[in-house]
Amino acid sequence: MESAMDLNNVILLNREATEQASDARAVLARAYDLLGDELVLASSFSVEDMALIHIACSIVERPRVFTLDTGRLHEETYRIMEEARKKYPIRLEVHTPDRAELESLLREKGLYSFYESIENRKECCRIRKVVPLQRALSSCRGWATGLRSAQSNTRLRLAPFELDTAHGDRLKINPLHAWSDDELWSFIRENGIPYNSLHDAGFPSIGCAPCTRAVQPGEDIRAGRWWWELPEHKECGLHQ
Ligand code: ADX
Ligand code: SF4
Repeated sequence: MESAMDLNNVILLNREATEQASDARAVLARAYDLLGDELVLASSFSVEDMALIHIACSIVERPRVFTLDTGRLHEETYRIMEEARKKYPIRLEVHTPDRAELESLLREKGLYSFYESIENRKECCRIRKVVPLQRALSSCRGWATGLRSAQSNTRLRLAPFELDTAHGDRLKINPLHAWSDDELWSFIRENGIPYNSLHDAGFPSIGCAPCTRAVQPGEDIRAGRWWWELPEHKECGLHQ
């Protein structure tokens, strides 16, 4: 499939995945068949992303992985990033915010502007995540994520293949879309996959340090992300 991705291609890919009851590995392998080295894994080194890296390394020799280093990540996240880099033969592409934009934000609004309003929070996410994401995607035709339907009500309609119209009609692949928490953690334990130690400290979902906190047992998976905002605002612009 050399031509640009369109909605019909994506519908066919999803139909094929359903008919063949494709598991996560089969979905990702199909994407590599289509895109080869123009497929990149998006990784925040969450437990989902570690599973994805493990699967990718069983399909291709040296998967491309990009991460958006916002500059505000937890120390534990940098540790697992480094552990993953040593354990797996990945080609890690680290994207950082644009220096001039970041310096201007810090000069004008200080270091904690995101607590002051949703506009300020989105501005910080735009500078630290969304703009670097556009740069990361410029060298690929498709990106694979660790998104799962079980993570939130806003992700219920997730499909294995999507057309990412927000990013130049690129193919977006969500191989773990149907995985439950139990399936995810069984896969991690059965395969001895390392993971961010914050997951054992009550953090089911991990983003930037000042914008993420632990949740209580039974609380929503994403309750600790931007906890001061209403649930419908809890997306940062990476995913629509
Ligand atoms: S977010 O939009 O709320 O930040 P979330 O943390 O749930 O997203 O992660 C969902 C998926 O988005 C991850 O599995 C990963 O594929 C991608 N992702 C999230 N944050 C990053 C990041 N900092 N760098 C690269 N990919 C990321
Ligand atoms: Fe900024 Fe918080 Fe968004 Fe990170 S999650 S980019 S610190 S507002």
